[in-house]
Amino acid sequence: MARRRQIYEGKAKVIFEGPEPGTLVQYFKDDATAFNNKKRATITGKGVINNRISEFLMMRLNEIGVPTHFLRRLNMREQLIKEVEIIPVEVVIRNIAAGSLATRLGIPEGQALPRSIIEHYYKNDELGDPMVSEEHITAFGWASAQEMDEIVALALRINDFLSGLFFGVGIRLVDFKIEFGRLYTNDDVRIVLADEISPDSCRLWDLKTNEKLDKDRFRRDLGNIAEAYQEVARRLGILPESGPGDVMSTKVVQ
Ligand code: TMP
Repeated sequence: MARRRQIYEGKAKVIFEGPEPGTLVQYFKDDATAFNNKKRATITGKGVINNRISEFLMMRLNEIGVPTHFLRRLNMREQLIKEVEIIPVEVVIRNIAAGSLATRLGIPEGQALPRSIIEHYYKNDELGDPMVSEEHITAFGWASAQEMDEIVALALRINDFLSGLFFGVGIRLVDFKIEFGRLYTNDDVRIVLADEISPDSCRLWDLKTNEKLDKDRFRRDLGNIAEAYQEVARRLGILPESGPGDVMSTKVVQ
């Protein structure tokens, strides 16, 4: 079968040309990286699970009127998405202190934050995705002030919805990272949620035990990475498409 033309390869995904103009195919790899590519591994089955989890979450968000790039899942590792111009800003929303916020500000990991906190990072691997303010974003023209207002409003809405959704299946949404893009239609430009939402881009803790069910298992060498991702999928009611072969057998190749 003729392979689709590759447009872009990221650390965990590949983007191919789509079947019709204005569409792309997003392929989920098993590769995992952390600390800006310094730590790498292959986690067998991760791409399949993330494709399903991201499909599920994007569909739920679409249903409540959050515009997303998602069109439909094509197969185990690929989904059809709308072509958007990615805004080079990673938006992080935090509900509980963890990770870089805990380290930077000396707040114990697990402490509830007084309110949800939004942070912005400039999406630039060479610079290690430095934290920036809206001042930088608007001054350097990465996004306009109006676009940032829309992005922040959408991010808070996504946070409220996903926090409730995960709470309902016994999971605390500690923090997560999302990206947005510009969708160009005829004479109109719209901001839409892009990229993915999966245990690669969220911190998800079991409500009762605080067990980590996300990429921190890889970052911190806690083991059972794919099993944790699978547990998230299981709780969301997403069952593996086929038998044990695809997502059940999981191994890590360092
Ligand atoms: P941090 O505590 O390391 O800043 O991460 C905050 C959230 O953002 C966490 O849920 C993991 C996610 N994240 C990404 O998805 N990609 C990244 O490159 C980084 C640094 C964090």
